Amino acid sequence: MNDPATVDGYQRAFDTLCDKRLAQSMYGECDILMQDVLLTLHGDDHTVRRALEMQLFKRDFIRYYEREVYPITLAATLNPYLIKGKMDLVEFGGRVNINLSADLAGIDRDPDSADELDMLLSISKKFSEGATLFHSTRNKDEVRLEVEETLSLFQEKFLTPSWKRREALLSSVEKNPESELNLPRDVLTVLLANRDKHDLDDQMIFREVAFFLQAATHSSANALVHIFNEIYNWSKSDPENRVKIKNDPFFLQRCVHEGLRLHPASPVAWRTSTCPFQLLSGKQVENGDSVVVDLQTSNQDESIFGSNPKEFNPYREVSGKVPSFGLTFGVGVHTCFGRDLAGGSLPGRSLDPDKHYFGTLTNLMRSLLSHDIRPDPDNAPIADDTTVRNNWSSYPVLIGKGESN
Ligand code: HEM
Repeated sequence: MNDPATVDGYQRAFDTLCDKRLAQSMYGECDILMQDVLLTLHGDDHTVRRALEMQLFKRDFIRYYEREVYPITLAATLNPYLIKGKMDLVEFGGRVNINLSADLAGIDRDPDSADELDMLLSISKKFSEGATLFHSTRNKDEVRLEVEETLSLFQEKFLTPSWKRREALLSSVEKNPESELNLPRDVLTVLLANRDKHDLDDQMIFREVAFFLQAATHSSANALVHIFNEIYNWSKSDPENRVKIKNDPFFLQRCVHEGLRLHPASPVAWRTSTCPFQLLSGKQVENGDSVVVDLQTSNQDESIFGSNPKEFNPYREVSGKVPSFGLTFGVGVHTCFGRDLAGGSLPGRSLDPDKHYFGTLTNLMRSLLSHDIRPDPDNAPIADDTTVRNNWSSYPVLIGKGESN
């Protein structure tokens, strides 16, 4: 077997991610969580599962979530912090996104129980640690054991009751097809409804729901912190741009996309070759060889993103039809399901802010900026040393005019 081949440069990275001869290979370290989930499937199995679950992510759902559900969740999550006048942005990001993830995954919870939501958040954090085990700096066996224990807790406290409720609803649809409209719109329901037709096994459904719970929470939460940090540092001594960021949501979305470009959730995507062939660089790969696509440097390709590509610059002109966030949501068959939900529609489609979809990240930033979010001068951010990914474990901020300000 050959050493891993690295691919960089935007266009080569793009084409390599779209090459169906390459299979996903970065998530095999934690099979108890990731085996046969959407992200790790390949070929026809992936196509069939993706088509099944894609039903959930149609435009009407994104519209409904952005306009109807998210503002309520955001206000409810933010209010206690506004009273205190401070918060940890990492914790806040997780808390505001866990409801979205649980709704998408199909996990019921008591809307009045903060303890239950906290438990779900800590469960999803552990799943995220498992999903990204490849990049962990901790003892990997220890993490696997913790993930296994957390899966049992998740099953007992959340999955089993949610599963039973959906099975009962599905059997009432068999008797009365009109009641189909009352079914929840989530991954668990879709998989249970198609269990026999697609021969889906229960353990796989369990893992898929756990995978979705973390997929929708932590990439967005980490991105939120990076984006705030970039926006704050770029505009702190520039009153004109600070006003523009607060008042022009289209410009704020450009800032969000620029932050996403600089900070992909993972700096690299790993793939394995399923047959011998030549990469675009001319390098030959054999069956089973690894290929590493460098997302971080490809997102800083000067020929696409212009001069000083490492710098945050929301005024940057991006060449051709390349999205301003580059490869941060992936491309090809594994393109992120949450791209439009988190990143919104690409600017340029509409100039009317009431018709444009800005995405949850821009909406979140807009709300936080309107409450004058700023770094806490007495508590510096702390880098997350449990992973080689460039994340924060804590980012204290002050917000509004709460008790502590
Ligand atoms: C800023 C936020 C996010 C970022 C940067 C991000 C990034 C990514 C990337 C890069 C991939 C592809 C990985 C690869 O090709 O190896 C991916 C896949 C995926 N993402 Fe996201 N993601 C984000 C938010 C979300 C959200 C909110 C959801 C839930 C709706 C989500 C669900 C998924 C799923 C299900 C996949 C697997 C798709 C497949 O394999 O077919 N992500 N994400």
